[in-house]
Parts: sequence; structure tokens; C-alpha cells
Amino acid sequence: MSGKHSPQNPEHYLERIADVEMTAVMSKAINEGIITEEDTAVFFYDLSRLKARIDNLITLFPDSTLHAVAVKANPLISILKYLEKLNVGAEAASLPELYLAEKCGYRPERIAFDSPVKTWEEIEYALKLGVHINIDSFEELKRISTLLKSVNSRSTMGIRINPQVGAGTIELTSVADEYSKFGIPIKQFRSDLKQAYLENEWLTGVHLHVGSQGCPPELLIDGIAIVLDFAEEVNSELQKQGSGRRIDIFDIGGGLPTPYSANDNIINMSDYYKMLRSRLPKLFDGRYRLITEFGRYIHANVCWAVSRIEYLKQSENLQTAMIHLGAECFTRECYHPEIWYHDMSVVNTTGALKKAHPKKSVIAGPLCFAGDIIAKNIELPAMESGDYLIIHDSGAYILSMWSRYNSRQMPKVIGYYGEDFEFVILKARESPETVYRFWDDS
Ligand code: LLP
Repeated sequence: MSGKHSPQNPEHYLERIADVEMTAVMSKAINEGIITEEDTAVFFYDLSRLKARIDNLITLFPDSTLHAVAVKANPLISILKYLEKLNVGAEAASLPELYLAEKCGYRPERIAFDSPVKTWEEIEYALKLGVHINIDSFEELKRISTLLKSVNSRSTMGIRINPQVGAGTIELTSVADEYSKFGIPIKQFRSDLKQAYLENEWLTGVHLHVGSQGCPPELLIDGIAIVLDFAEEVNSELQKQGSGRRIDIFDIGGGLPTPYSANDNIINMSDYYKMLRSRLPKLFDGRYRLITEFGRYIHANVCWAVSRIEYLKQSENLQTAMIHLGAECFTRECYHPEIWYHDMSVVNTTGALKKAHPKKSVIAGPLCFAGDIIAKNIELPAMESGDYLIIHDSGAYILSMWSRYNSRQMPKVIGYYGEDFEFVILKARESPETVYRFWDDS
């Protein structure tokens, strides 16, 4: 897949995908039989757009930056392998995510291991592999210090510091409030943290992550500023002591919000980078090697989901589309619809966009519980069974949050690239046999 997708017009590829593109792709996929009768739902992934977002990130930041893309946002193997070829790294938040990255060919020095609950065995595994490790607590620091007495490691290490800058608009994805289960809070532990850096010569990095979506760029940068101030303080102390070493790895985390609707007034990566550089020039004076951990910004807007509308329940003022995707992957949309939403479009059996007779609509999933509603109170054109519903911006934290409730089959994922939309199957539709094997403990 690599190499073929150099976009003609990179700027165009950084925008959200328009209806006209999705309908053209749908028509082609239907004509070519890429979507078959058994494909009750599919995900489409625009690989040219994905590449454009990565190229943009790489162009903006200094060359020495490691862009460790958050595996949790989208762990599809074909996507992880594709990203690896584009010269980014991986942020792994669990041992299996670390394993996925390793198996997909990421060199150890391009992996940041961030799990907040690492066992002794997992730490030892990561140390032997030589990945960058972000330490979440003082207790974990002690474990590493003990292990380093017997394990020979090329790992670099940093501590995850909670800058306590406050929460964004979404509590569940904000992790830098006064209290957070992640990292070590700077207000209470500044001097202990400093001591840790002075005592452990292998500790050369700092790490923070303020939150995901709902955290405005100013808040993200406020958090980075606090940790930068701390790193500078430690570095001047180390210099005073003539130690010859310093904190030189700065992991700024991810969290840049991304738009889910034309009304979401959200800045792009270029503007975020400009803000960051102008507010924190010291971060860019060559003394720190940066790590970024973006996930949502990379993936969300480059992928869309489609489901056949299997049945349509009509009442006078309301149409309910019964579809094949629900809370098993649109988890947040079902549980917190006031926060998580998607634009949707309706196309007919040939892939043509429907526009007429907008009506109050409910989009109901296939799962056996009443909360399995992806959207309600939205206006959509008059639908019929057999039409397809397109759910925009479905590339981040949708398939990765897959649940096995009701043992649904994970749909096919189709990649396309270039201006002629060439297709490649990124993941086959799961078979009932695969689901059986998942539940089989024998
Ligand atoms: N780094 C760390 C340490 C993280 O915890 C995360 C996301 C990221 C990077 C990537 O953040 P991003 O750039 O994607 O915003 N829909 C999910 C979102 C959870 C985000 C978790 N952490 C949920 O609702 O649980």
C-alpha cells in the first residue's frame, strides 16, 4: 500500500471528507462489488488523507521529533503497518498494544510505553526491548530502579507529570485536573519529583497528557508550560551540580481536538504548532527531543462508517432507522449523546445522496438494550429500508472501543486512496467462527 498515495493537493486532504467524496466512493464500491450482500456495515478509510495528516505533522515539527501515534485510537494492523512505513512511532498504553507495535515493525526506540498499570513482568519486557517508558507513579519508579540493577536496557525513561491545569469540557477525557488517576501531581510532589530526577541518572524525560477532545489548545499548552518550567528547574540544578546530564526528552502527549461538525470551531495542527512555538520557544531551541502522542487528530476525520438501513420504523413525525452499528463501537455516542455526535448522510442502493423531505430521525443499533441509539433528534432525509446510512468522522476510538456484547461481527474495513479511489481491504469482515473462537476458552 505504501508509496502510491502522494496526494496531488495536500491541503484538500487535510479537510473533513465531503458528502460528494463519500457518495462517489460508495457508488464505486457498490459497482465493483466491494460491498457485498453480507456487508451489513463497513468502514471506509481514506489512506491518502491519513498520509497527508502524517506528512503535515512531520513537516511542522522539528526533524528529531518522535510522533508516537496513539495505538488506542485505531489499532488495525494494516493501519499500524501503514503508519510505520510513514516514519512515525507508536504510543502503546498496554502490553498488547506494545506487542502490536512490535509485531508491526516499529523499532523499539520509536515506541512510547504509557500503560498506567505496568506489572513487574511488563516493565522487564519493555526494558529488555528498549522502548521509551513513561513512568506513572513513584512506586513504578522504584520497580524500574530495582529492575535496572539486573536488566541491561537501552530504554529511555520519563515520568508522567500531572500539571494540574484543570479539566476541559469533557470530564471523562480530561486527565490534568487537580485530581487525576494518571501521573504524579506537580503541586503536591514538585520537590519529590525533582529529587527523583537528581538521584536517578537514567531519568531523562518528562511526559504529560492533558486530555483528549474537549481540551482547548490553550489548556494543552498551559499544561506543557508547567512541565517545561519544571524541566528547566531540574536542568539548572543538574548544571549547578556539574552532573553533565539533563532532561532532554519532552513528551507533550496528544489531545488536539478535531471537528465532528462544520460548527465545531477547532484549530488545525499547523495553528496549534504555531501557538506552541510562539508561547514556548525554549521547547524548540534544540535542547529537547520532542515526542508527540496524537491519536484522534490523525484518525478521526479520515474514516467513515456505513450501515445498511435494514428496517425503517415510521410514525407520523419520526422515522427510526434500524441499522447494523450501535453501542458495540459507537459506545460514547450511545452513553453520552450530549457530548459525542457525528454528521450523517443517507444514500440509496446505488450510492446516490438523498436530500429530500428531512424528518426528525432516530438511529438505532442492533443491540439488545434500549440505550443502543447512536443519534436522536436529528433531521435526516426520508429513508427507506435498503438505503445506506453514512456516519462521518469515525476513524478514532470507534472500532478500537469494540465490545463483544451480543457477539456482533466486526465489519469489513476498506481502504481507498488516490483521486480515483482505488480500494484495498484493510480488514475482512469477522465470521461467526471468529466470534466463536473469541469466546472459546478451551
Ligand atoms: N496519550 C495518552 C497518554 C492518552 O491517554 C491519550 C488518549 C492520547 C495520548 C491520545 O489522545 P488524542 O490525541 O487521541 O486525543 N474515546 C475514548 C478516548 C479516550 C482517550 C484516551 N487517551 C474514550 O472516550 O474513552
